[in-house]
Amino acid sequence: MGRRKIEIGLAGLGNVGMGVYANVLKNSELLSRRANAHLNIRKIAVRDLKKARDHEPPIPSDRFTNRWEDLIEDDEVDVIVELIGGIDQAKELVISALRKKKVVVTGNKALLAEHGQEIFSLAKEMEVPVYFEAAVAGGIPIIKAVQESLVGNAIQMISGIINGTCNYILTRMREEGLSYQDALQEAQVLGYAEADPTLDVNGWDAGHKAVLLGSLASGRWVPADQIHVEGIENIRLGDIQFVETMGYTVKLLGIIRCTENEPLEVRVQPCLVSKQHLLASVNGVYNAVMVEGDLVGETLFYGSGAGQNPTSSSVIADIVDAAVGLQHDEKRGYVPSNELAAVKPIEATLSQYYLRLHVENRPGVLAQIAQIMGGHDIGITSVHQPESMAAMADLVLTLDRAPYGSVKQAIAQIQGLSCTSEDTTLLRVESFEDPA
Ligand code: HSE
Repeated sequence: MGRRKIEIGLAGLGNVGMGVYANVLKNSELLSRRANAHLNIRKIAVRDLKKARDHEPPIPSDRFTNRWEDLIEDDEVDVIVELIGGIDQAKELVISALRKKKVVVTGNKALLAEHGQEIFSLAKEMEVPVYFEAAVAGGIPIIKAVQESLVGNAIQMISGIINGTCNYILTRMREEGLSYQDALQEAQVLGYAEADPTLDVNGWDAGHKAVLLGSLASGRWVPADQIHVEGIENIRLGDIQFVETMGYTVKLLGIIRCTENEPLEVRVQPCLVSKQHLLASVNGVYNAVMVEGDLVGETLFYGSGAGQNPTSSSVIADIVDAAVGLQHDEKRGYVPSNELAAVKPIEATLSQYYLRLHVENRPGVLAQIAQIMGGHDIGITSVHQPESMAAMADLVLTLDRAPYGSVKQAIAQIQGLSCTSEDTTLLRVESFEDPA
């Protein structure tokens, strides 16, 4: 049995909060041994006190409050676990907790991506740690891996499939030939996508995670408004099927690239990944994060990026860290310095590309397009035209390494030609190598 009791104030009893409550009870004996303390969920703040909560044994009603302030005002509470989500109220809660010198555990990626610099600077001032393992890739222990196990490395690149909803949709489109809308609807029926899936499919859930990973990798806070984020809403089934014949699969990737003496590259974009690459075989709702360090080389972390039990696994790990830290008066894991990272403009980032145009099916069209590409110093590495007798046809080009900005300019010029339509897909081909 542990030496002391660690009193926890749990804010939010949604899917993950309920998992934390249930699993702290389920594994209470082993957690007591590992934390050398009994972990007691003393108070739970919920929005609606009347809402039925299925838990066996029932949660004693005197633990509930509908004021999160009660957790902060309770002098016995050592650790605040913030699982209410959203930004404004969560920020108020976390700031109030730190001011009262309570350790904070949060899974709130949006909060930290938007206000991490302010929150961690207050945490430093108050000498109180903030733990956030659950904020990135659910149950995968990627935060502590970068903060602790890989701390001796200069991180060169982090590339990851960090949104399970998008990965599920892209997988079902490729495997079953579903349209984007049908795959999304299936994900919603199965509970993999929210009723409002906007933040997942527009790329910003992954964007917030990329901000956090980029901040840890570079050691400086990445301003969320300076990263480039694209989602999967405009991915066509036809493109997924065509790239398959070229040996690629489409994945929504979060990419962080740290190059010495250059601004940091942080972006979220759907990319072509060679079927030979490990990340190409990460399917369904699974997440995977590849971290490359100068000492360790490549490492790969794979697992469940969401879900009640996997995400509670990360939150509970943080609670145990908090409990150990409280007993030894120590903080685990480094956090970025108070400075902001310089982020490379997306226009300056380099890669190869897949470009599908929809053009008039007649002689001379390809020549005009090739001329524009040449004028922007962009090399064409292959040309594919699925055989068609129709008046308009798809024309697929693969482009040699070039700045994104030049490719976008060339496409704008091509779209100005009378022989092309607006129906265009541009996807990056991710080689996972330093393109410089
Ligand atoms: N909605 C996210 C996903 C999990 O689909 O991966 C929480 O960030």
